[in-house]
Formats: sequence, structure tokens, C-alpha cells
Amino acid sequence: MPITPTGKPLLDAALGIRQEKPPVWIMRQAGRYLPEYRAVREKAGGFLDLCFNPDFATEVSLQPLRRFDLDAAILFSDILVIPHALGQPVRFAAGEGPLLEPLDANAIDQLTPETALEQLEPVFEAVSRIKSALADDKTLIGFCGAPWTVATYMLGGKGSPDQAAARLFALQHPEAFAALIDILVEVSARYLIAQFRAGADIVQIFESWALNLDEDAFVHYVLGPNARIVERVRADIPDAPIIGFPRGAAGMIGRYATETGVNVLGLDFSMPVGFANKMLPETLTVQGNLDPLRVVAGGKQMEDRARAIVDGFKNRPHIFNLGHGITPQTPIEHVEVLIRAVKQ
Ligand code: CP3
Repeated sequence: MPITPTGKPLLDAALGIRQEKPPVWIMRQAGRYLPEYRAVREKAGGFLDLCFNPDFATEVSLQPLRRFDLDAAILFSDILVIPHALGQPVRFAAGEGPLLEPLDANAIDQLTPETALEQLEPVFEAVSRIKSALADDKTLIGFCGAPWTVATYMLGGKGSPDQAAARLFALQHPEAFAALIDILVEVSARYLIAQFRAGADIVQIFESWALNLDEDAFVHYVLGPNARIVERVRADIPDAPIIGFPRGAAGMIGRYATETGVNVLGLDFSMPVGFANKMLPETLTVQGNLDPLRVVAGGKQMEDRARAIVDGFKNRPHIFNLGHGITPQTPIEHVEVLIRAVKQ
């Protein structure tokens, strides 16, 4: 059946309609590289106070669209509001990233999935306010962290280069680990459904730690839970448009795409364009995949690489993005130049 265009170029690309100029958004587009973000962040106090205040969250979600020719706003929040809502407090210490009291096998039983969604009401309020403020041709992206990625923080207590604490926990306590993943699948799916009901046009599942997993672990921690979320969301929101971003999935991207059923595969910057084209169904939309450090450095190398990516995906629907989040030291002028280069 032919797809009916929505009038939103980014959503249309996600639904499989190739756009002549690739629509653009930037992972972590609201953030510390923008002085206007830093000003609101200071006013809000703590980082979670920013996430749970609908006025502030709406404001910072809209900031990047005032500056740049972007095709989407992404809800301003964090993947770690989920553990927080489940009763595992999250702190964001300045310069240290997130800190949690690591869960042990017994603590998993103490989590509170029944009441988690009530805690997240301010997020849904922000979604509906952002939606009302957006022009008709802009897409509103909601999101959650994927169960494995969120579990790595819940079990390790902080970010780590290799997720060893969570990987070891999964191997030593398979039943408790499975119980945790089940809770995260259910709560994350309900969280995304509520975002759609509040006005999100599409959602992204951030599987930022899909790397460092052997094949069997990838299948059980990443593929299965991502597929279950997609299925659970679409049981309530038929045909819900979904972007999967399995960062570091490498040789598993083909299976991730076909077995989860996402509309869009987000590619990290280590993924070769030719390999992605070979492994993925030709009608599948891809998103990505410029190295964020190329935007920090700027200049000819950035524009050349961006054009090579656009050219490499000229035979399929493509949403231009970075291959991971933009970093705080990125000069704003480089972002302007990048977007112009992609849209020319
Ligand atoms: O603009 C947007 O993309 C929307 C907002 C957004 C944030 N975090 C805001 C944020 C989104 C989509 C996220 C997702 C997120 N959060 C991920 C997945 C994406 C990825 O980068 O892999 C992960 C792993 C997290 C967890 C997290 N939150 C970490 C590791 C950190 C500290 C590292 C850092 O960048 O500072 C955060 C804090 C965070 N989340 C900030 C922002 C703007 C910075 C905090 C601040 O302003 O003080």
C-alpha cells in the first residue's frame, strides 16, 4: 500500500518516503553547547529539576529549532528518568555524569513499576506543550532508553567503558536480570505509548550500549527486548513509527532491523555506509552517521564527510544525523555550516 505523506519531511522519510534533501536532526541537539540551554539549566537547579519541569523542558526542546534549520524537535528529558520513577534515585553530579546506588538481585523486587508512570506526568505535559508550539512541518520525537542500556546504569551505578558490572550480573544472576529486563520492557513501552498519546510523532529507542556484547548476549539483551517494546507499543498505537539506535551493533544491524521491525535504523559513526547498504533491506530508512568530533573540528573535513554520507545513502530514505550525541565543546557556527552543507 502506498504511504500517504504527512507533510512532515522527517516523519515522511521515517515512513519510507525518500526526501530529495535529507531531513536533519542532531542527537542531543538541546544541550550544553548552547548558551541559552546553560542559562535555563542554571535557573532550574538540578538536571532532573529541568527534566521534570514542563516549562523548562519545553523551552530547551524548542531552543535548537530557533537557531538551526532542523526538521524535528526531540523531547528534552533523559533515559534515566525511568530508574528514578522506578524508585532508584538518580543524581547528576557536575562533571561526573549520572550516579545511582547499584541494584543487587534483591533490590530488583523493590522497584515500583505500578506507580512509575504517574511520576512521569510532567514529561507527558512537556510533550503536549512542545507539540502545540511546533510548526506543522516539524516532527516531534519522543524517546526512551532501551532496557539493556538503562540496566547497565541501574546495575553499574554509573557509566563505564565496558559495562562489565551489568554483563557480569546478567551471567551470574540470570533470573534476577530477566526480571529487571521484563520490568524495563513493560514500563518503557507504556512510557512510549503515553508519549505518543501526548503528541509525539515518532519515538527513538536509545540502545547506546549495544557494543561489547557477544552474539548470544546481543540476541537476549538487545534484540529480544527491543522487539518486545516495538510489538507492545504497536499493540496500542498501530503502526507507531519507531527509530532504533543500537550503537555498536556492528555485524548485527541486519538482524536488529528485521527482528525488531523498527522503521528507521540509527547508525553509529563506525558503521561503514557500504556495509549498512548491503546488510539492510533497501527500502529501510537509515539515520546517521557523522562522527560528532568532526563537528567540533569543523571545516572542509566535516563538509566532505557529511556529503559523502548523503551521497552514500542516495538510493534509500535517509535522515541525516550524527552517529552519536553532539558534544558540549561544539562551536555553534560549525552546526550551522553542517546543516547548510547537508541541505544544499
Ligand atoms: O537533545 C536531546 O537529545 C534530548 C535530551 C537527551 C538528554 N539525554 C539530555 C541530557 C537525550 C535524548 C538523552 C539520552 C541519554 N541520556 C542517553 C542516550 C544517548 C547517548 O548519548 O548515548 C544516555 C546514555 C543518557 C544518560 C546520561 N545523561 C549521561 C551518560 C549523562 C552525562 C553525560 C553528559 O552528556 O553529560 C546525562 C546527562 C544529560 N542528559 C545532559 C543532557 C543535556 C547533560 C547534563 C547537564 O546539562 O548537566
